[in-house]
Amino acid sequence: MPKTLLGLIGHPLGHSLSPQMHNEQFRRLGLDGYYHLFDTPTEELQESVQALRQLGTAGFNITIPYKVSVMAYIDRVDSSAERIGAVNTVVRENEELVGYNTDGEGYLESLLAVRSLEQIKNANILVIGAGGAARAVCYALSLRRPNNIILVNRTQEKAEQLKSHLEDIASIEVVPKEEAESRNSEYDILINTTSIGMSPETDRSPWPLKNVKTSALCSDLIYNPWETRWLKEARKAGLDTLNGSGMFVNQGALAFKYWTGQEPDRKAMHSLVENHLK
Ligand code: ATR
Repeated sequence: MPKTLLGLIGHPLGHSLSPQMHNEQFRRLGLDGYYHLFDTPTEELQESVQALRQLGTAGFNITIPYKVSVMAYIDRVDSSAERIGAVNTVVRENEELVGYNTDGEGYLESLLAVRSLEQIKNANILVIGAGGAARAVCYALSLRRPNNIILVNRTQEKAEQLKSHLEDIASIEVVPKEEAESRNSEYDILINTTSIGMSPETDRSPWPLKNVKTSALCSDLIYNPWETRWLKEARKAGLDTLNGSGMFVNQGALAFKYWTGQEPDRKAMHSLVENHLK
């Protein structure tokens, strides 16, 4: 009897930890599932989705660069993913492939491990970047109605677009970089959603920490490297820090729950990621 097929569609997939993270949980829970990597060139995205559908997949994850384009090849998109404008998790429900986005809630759950809901509601939050990850994070934050979200991006127009998607549910200000920097002492939570700090070419700080409150939290969505230059600077300055490993684990755990109806062991998932990357 073949195992239920799950997996990750993206390109390039490199050393994704998702298969190990999910397969260990299938084993632990005695579930008949197996999570594969489906490294898919752009011209084959539709075929990959079709093939998984025909093989009776229970669902799959989608990553860069297909979180938007996959929506054309599935049957339905849930309202949160539609608002975020991206799908990272597809679930087979009866005969339909339904798209969800677990990135934003995954992030929020990791934030709630270090800040209370009350603190988030009272917070002024600086979000650096306005790409897909920022959209998911800002949506999840907006649902908790923080005091203010200050959005800054290299391309300001993209930040304006993000704001227009969410301004009916949250207070969002788009601010030029110089002004956002001059307001550093306002922020309670600073979130880097850009790729600055991920590779040797971008091994620099995405945001200066001058005048930032000592009670502030610096949160980077990057988890490889485990501690970016920015988080190192923040830690040395005595600030609280949060890397992206919790978001990665939680987005996976939420997808796992959609597919199986069961709660995986997030601590074990996190240990696995930490053991590989720290
Ligand atoms: P993701 O899905 O990971 O969010 P994305 O949609 O390509 O990826 O968004 C990347 C974000 O990082 C964008 O906000 C991008 O800024 P632009 O909108 O101006 O492109 C930001 N970014 C990437 N590299 C950057 C760099 N070298 N300097 C400043 N911002 C950068």
